[in-house]
Amino acid sequence: MKNIIIAIDGPAASGKSSTAKRVAQQLGYVHVDTGAMYRAIALKALRLGITADNVDAIDAMTRSTTVRLEYDQEKKLHVMLDDADVSEEIRMPDVSNAASAISAVPAVRELLVREQRAMGTAGGLVLDGRDIGTVVFPNADVKIFMVADAYERAVRRAKELEDKGIHADIYALEREIMERDKNDSTRAHSPLKKADDAFVIDTTRLTIEEQTAFILSKAKERIG
Ligand code: DC
Repeated sequence: MKNIIIAIDGPAASGKSSTAKRVAQQLGYVHVDTGAMYRAIALKALRLGITADNVDAIDAMTRSTTVRLEYDQEKKLHVMLDDADVSEEIRMPDVSNAASAISAVPAVRELLVREQRAMGTAGGLVLDGRDIGTVVFPNADVKIFMVADAYERAVRRAKELEDKGIHADIYALEREIMERDKNDSTRAHSPLKKADDAFVIDTTRLTIEEQTAFILSKAKERIG
């Protein structure tokens, strides 16, 4: 059986990560949540009080930082920042905004793209992010571009936060999501963009099962 690479890109909170996780589980592949890696770098910068416009300080910080994804026996993903597990902290809303800002810094992208490519040498990966099908793996076997209505995305994000005991205003989340999309798609370096050969899935009215089934059917055509 051929081990392929599946790239899932799209705007914030469009359902990429939860879908990618399911596709990976079904195929016995590894799920690489690249947004989590940018979030880890952003968390470190926040802790050190470094803002995204201080490019020299970010360059220096990046040189002495490691970000790795590890998987436990239950295949649960752990995001390791300098060998400490930061999987929970990186999901906080202030980290989302900081990640969007810091991901525009070339040194940060170079470090993380190198890591992501190194994970992909043997295939068998489902990666989700913004630039996977365009920059990280332009030859990925299956490319998906996932979109959804901004209000629907805010509702989903609010539910996720609610489950963690955090109350969030849906309209504030919607504004934050739209702001992040604007930053991510207008930056100079590897902006969020649909690859020419990507399938577009609008998840506004789809269930996660439907999204997963669509991607699996495309994957199986390529796996043969
Ligand atoms: O997917 P996410 O919401 O966890 O990503 C957080 C931020 O990281 C996102 O706003 C932009 C950035 N990002 C990126 O620039 N490139 C990626 N491949 C993944 C995320």
